[in-house]
Amino acid sequence: MLKIVVCVSGGGTNLQAILDAVDAGKITNTEVIAVISNNAGAKALERAKAHGIPGILMSPKSYPDRESFNHAFTDKMCELAPDLIVLAGFLVKIPEDMVEKFGGRIVNIHPSLIPSFCGVGYYGLKVHEEALRRGVKITGATVHFVNEGMDEGPIIAQKAVAVEEGDTPEILQRRVMEQAEWLLLPQAIDDIANGRLTVEEGHVYRKA
Ligand code: GRF
Repeated sequence: MLKIVVCVSGGGTNLQAILDAVDAGKITNTEVIAVISNNAGAKALERAKAHGIPGILMSPKSYPDRESFNHAFTDKMCELAPDLIVLAGFLVKIPEDMVEKFGGRIVNIHPSLIPSFCGVGYYGLKVHEEALRRGVKITGATVHFVNEGMDEGPIIAQKAVAVEEGDTPEILQRRVMEQAEWLLLPQAIDDIANGRLTVEEGHVYRKA
């Protein structure tokens, strides 16, 4: 059984996609043991509560400095001892110590086709605003392993989504969520839970 902790900051639609996929049997051998958020008002915490999953608030604002937050966050994660950490719209940088301790067992969903529109400053709506400003015809989402960089870890899977005439950032974000994120992340978790992924020299391979 793959024990996962999901880290969230906002609406939690990716968390909901995971929970729904577990309930529907589309993700097997997996249990969400906790949800961590830096945002007390995150709707994602309500989604966790509605599912009977412990919600844990871990906010940098509750600590005197970032170093003490990082220690507390990493200690809590070690206490929970998940097999996999899933970042689903989590807007806090993962402490280097946590990346080291959970190396290769942290995944993130990013709302673009990495290496486009990613890295520092590219999160949430900003990603789609930039895609529209640049005039790309195709965007999408990427699920990847997390390393010490920002959106730089080995890519697990990607899915393309068309940009349509008249798209606003909000319309495009919703389409990327519906057509890509909510499919890619559950599939990646199921693949990890069932041993279908291998990483060789920084590239991810999936056994059917
Ligand atoms: C999603 O667009 C996700 O790709 C990005 O932040 C947003 C979070 O959405 N990382 P939600 O909280 O999962 O609804």
